[in-house]
Amino acid sequence: MQQIVMQGGTALHGRVEVSGAKNAALPLMAAALLTESPCDITNMPDLGDIRTFSMLLRQFGAHVEALGSGKMRIQARSFASVEAPYDLVKTMRASVLVLGPLVARCGQARVSLPGGCAIGARPIDQHLEGIRALGADITLDHGYVYARAQRLRGADIHLRMPTVTGTENLMMAAALAAGRSRIHPAAREPEVVCLAEVLTCMGARVTGAGTDTIEIEGVSCLQPFQCTVIPDRIEAGTFAIAAAITGGKVEVAHCRPGHLEAVIQQLRAVGVRVEADDSTLYVERRGLLRPVNITTTPYPGFPTDMQAQMMALMTLARGTSIIRETVFENRFMHVAELRRMGAQIDVRGNTARVHGQDALTGAQLMATDLRASAGLILAGLAAQGETVVSRMYHLDRGYEHIEKKLVALGAKIWRQG
Ligand code: UD1
Repeated sequence: MQQIVMQGGTALHGRVEVSGAKNAALPLMAAALLTESPCDITNMPDLGDIRTFSMLLRQFGAHVEALGSGKMRIQARSFASVEAPYDLVKTMRASVLVLGPLVARCGQARVSLPGGCAIGARPIDQHLEGIRALGADITLDHGYVYARAQRLRGADIHLRMPTVTGTENLMMAAALAAGRSRIHPAAREPEVVCLAEVLTCMGARVTGAGTDTIEIEGVSCLQPFQCTVIPDRIEAGTFAIAAAITGGKVEVAHCRPGHLEAVIQQLRAVGVRVEADDSTLYVERRGLLRPVNITTTPYPGFPTDMQAQMMALMTLARGTSIIRETVFENRFMHVAELRRMGAQIDVRGNTARVHGQDALTGAQLMATDLRASAGLILAGLAAQGETVVSRMYHLDRGYEHIEKKLVALGAKIWRQG
């Protein structure tokens, strides 16, 4: 099993380019199922999750072709199967994004229930309620959801919470439904806006994306699309913290600073210098880190996907920081690993109190999920001595060439095994 090894304590310097966002790319790949003609997506990141989703689409009979330089062509002319099997869904929960497009286009879908994952129960009840509201008949059988509908019809969908993939699934289903649909409260994440733009290119009329109410006028047939995946705001934020935690100076290029306002605001509160232009963050840390209070919330709030990385940074602040996780129920798995590096963190319920100190020490660590792995890598870059992080497959699901990018910034980091 592959491990990442780091010799910590080197300040990072230089320029890094952010890749396309996994969380934007996956719904775009699912949207290609809505039309029989070829769709082209550029700025695709080379990641484990993208390969898994490609396998899933191929299993339906779709033609998925990597054209080089981050370009992918997907054509779902006809369907050999409408089943998303357990083996794929369990490794990648976002596989559930095929449910809406399959029911809308093929009139049926059989998708494995994702089950629990490292960061909590993560049910899909809101996806199912929404598809049912659009007129599908839903049954649960042997761990699978079976959804059927002659033709979906537009509806008012009231969600219990603004789920990101739930909103995306329902937008795609509604794009081929007869009449108008309304989703409320809709997720406001940039990845949802990216999908809305693509559905509009395809011929559906989508308004309100980026607000908490999205309206979609469905059509009977959608056109193919060509689009570019937006930059990964979580990867950009992770590199910004890499500069901050090592006391370095890094230009984080090819990103959209406008998608990172909550993160930039907290980094400035901590004492990190952050300047931004249209597509680059200039991040520098010279002085001591100040403690902060952070609560994760849906966009435009502080992202749960940046919580582990920010916690790593706060272990080195002068004083006690309070981090509240309100999006997922069990997203402090990295705490036990950070403690093994000497971090002092108390957890009570959804709140962590991080008592900052002068230094962390390198240790053998185990990654538990994608973003927790990123937090551990950041801690290892700043720690004294050697850190070894195992179960790197978590990181490879969502960070493209991370150690190469860090090496280019001067980090002493390599892969073994
Ligand atoms: C997406 C992101 C993930 C990010 C998360 C929150 C993708 C592929 N993944 O995940 O990186 O951490 O948003 O920003 O885009 N919930 C329910 N019932 C549902 C759906 C969700 O109870 O039917 C709950 C979840 O358990 C969680 C909360 O709602 O507590 C938000 O989850 P959601 O926005 O759905 O996250 P994902 O879309 O899975």
